[in-house]
Amino acid sequence: MSMNKQISRFDLTERAIHWMSAISFVYAALTGLALWSHKLYWLASVFGGGPTVRGMHPWGGVLFAVSLGFMFRRWARVMQLDSDDKVWMKNSHLYAMHRDQELPETGRFNAGQKMMFWMQSAFAVLLFASGLVLWFPEIAPRSARLLAVLVHPLAAIGSIGGIILHIYMGTAVVPGALRAMTRGTVSQGWAASHHPKWFRELSKH
Ligand code: HEM
Repeated sequence: MSMNKQISRFDLTERAIHWMSAISFVYAALTGLALWSHKLYWLASVFGGGPTVRGMHPWGGVLFAVSLGFMFRRWARVMQLDSDDKVWMKNSHLYAMHRDQELPETGRFNAGQKMMFWMQSAFAVLLFASGLVLWFPEIAPRSARLLAVLVHPLAAIGSIGGIILHIYMGTAVVPGALRAMTRGTVSQGWAASHHPKWFRELSKH
């Protein structure tokens, strides 16, 4: 059997949801950074100037929250951690050392990808809740405003850090992954080496 044949990894719906999340995230992140520090205020000029950025940043956040809602509905089930994933997590240093063969075989997503999903989902909830308070401070109690001022930038730093790692993994570290999220397909060889359990299940049908 030739392992060059292309198979589907992400359907059109999944890719549309993913790129809507990615574009709204990058927009919200860059406009948010512009509002956060005067050292990054130059970013505002890229997005139409200070007042435009202040007005549009929350809407970028809303679009991101909606996109991630769709992503959550689509993937929450496949992202459940099983017992193999827990062993994988405990030994994830082996993944970083390219010793994947010593780890339990991965299904459609490995435990690191699953953790990325859950962490970004949690950060998104924190960002959205604290963002609403910052957007409409007059209807929030003082304690909520104090908490939001702290939570919003911390959750932003966490999610931006995670996404930098995610982009690095998806583009530079794992050749073939980006194509999965653009054209939707991977080679059988890619599937068999990165997600053997998933590939075996696909081959059964
Ligand atoms: C901004 C540029 C982004 C790039 C270049 C990118 C790239 C990718 C790629 C290549 C994959 C496929 C991985 C595979 O085949 O296994 C993927 C999957 C995924 N992406 Fe992104 N992504 C970006 C932004 C985001 C954002 C903002 C989120 C959510 C906050 C996100 C969430 C996910 C999730 C949950 C998956 C599936 C699991 C995983 O691979 O971690 N991505 N992404």
